[in-house]
Amino acid sequence: MKHEKDLRFAIIGCGAISDNHALSIIENGSKLVACCDNVEINAIGFAEKYDIDWYTDYKEMIKRNDIDVVCICTPSGTHADISMEVSRYKKHIVVEKPMDITLEQADRMINACNENNVKLSVISQHRFDDSTMFLKKAVEEGQLGKLILGDAAIKWYRSQEYYDSGEWRGTWEIDGGGALMNQGIHTIDLLQYIMGGIESLTANIGTLGHARINVEDVATVTIRFKNGALGTIVGTTCAYPGLSARLEIHGNEGTAIIDNDQLTYFHTKEKLVDQMKLNSVSKKTGGTSPEINYFGHKKQIKDMIEAILNDREPLVNGEEGKKPLEIILAIYSSAKTGETVNPSQKVEQE
Ligand SMILES: NC(=O)c1ccc[n+]([C@@H]2O[C@H](COP(=O)([O-])OP(=O)(O)OC[C@H]3O[C@@H](n4cnc5c(N)ncnc54)[C@H](O)[C@@H]3O)[C@@H](O)[C@H]2O)c1
Repeated sequence: MKHEKDLRFAIIGCGAISDNHALSIIENGSKLVACCDNVEINAIGFAEKYDIDWYTDYKEMIKRNDIDVVCICTPSGTHADISMEVSRYKKHIVVEKPMDITLEQADRMINACNENNVKLSVISQHRFDDSTMFLKKAVEEGQLGKLILGDAAIKWYRSQEYYDSGEWRGTWEIDGGGALMNQGIHTIDLLQYIMGGIESLTANIGTLGHARINVEDVATVTIRFKNGALGTIVGTTCAYPGLSARLEIHGNEGTAIIDNDQLTYFHTKEKLVDQMKLNSVSKKTGGTSPEINYFGHKKQIKDMIEAILNDREPLVNGEEGKKPLEIILAIYSSAKTGETVNPSQKVEQE
């Protein structure tokens, strides 16, 4: 019987998010053995920090027999091509969000992992927050009654320097979009996870607060869910100085609000959760504290380790990871054509 300590990980892409993966792997009791970045100095710096081997060509690294799982932390539009290569070497895959930037690439990735019999976990770390799990269970148990309205508002701020800091940032070609594809995707995933699938949506997007990018930095969307409920998405990276990511769920018997990963309001016909109890649900989410901001990654990587050891699907597998991508691509399509779009019908992509 294998244990978590028997699983050996490697990371491709040693940039901003890679420490979340490294710390999560180590703190879950597995081994981090190697990393790769095509910028040598990034690979060396990361390898020295974690005392592991380094590569600048991931195709060399994945030939190693002592690697079981690979975390892909490269720019978004590279995820599918790298995943397909990694899966050929029979390594399980944890891939950052979005899983890639087109549905064709997402499907190729899912198929490659199935054909090679490896597991695929797409990062959506806020699904693992205690606030999300509490609300998901409450909705499933009918505590909010019939769902009526679901709103996601991601009012963040990203400076011009942020967009200028990496050539891929804010590009359609590699970032795949802007305020929604890169930043809003987490809350959009939670909205569809809690409310259920989207039947149709109508959207507007604009690039209003930044130069040298052509992806959206503001978006507004109106939604009809499959269960008949209505909703909205408002996302921006222009809300100076940066407010919160907020999810508001209303049923005919209750309301719940998650603000910056914390359950800040929960009031149903049956119960009003008082502030002290809310604090205890929220404390454990660790959402905004810098020292524990890899908390969600740690839980999702634990889920992947258990999925591999017990030969089950990870909670956010390829099909689950595709859902927010489908919605965001439908938003872009609607904004372009002015039409109402059903996300589960194939969206035409440029
Ligand atoms: N889950 C989250 O909360 C979260 C947060 C930030 C970023 N992300 C995602 O993580 C991914 C990376 O984002 P980031 O902010 O860390 O980017 P980054 O630019 O800081 O880091 C990416 C790294 O990948 C390297 N790289 C690029 N192509 C490579 C290749 N072919 N082989 C090896 N290395 C390569 C780059 O040199 C760079 O060091 C993106 O998909 C992003 O959406 C997720």
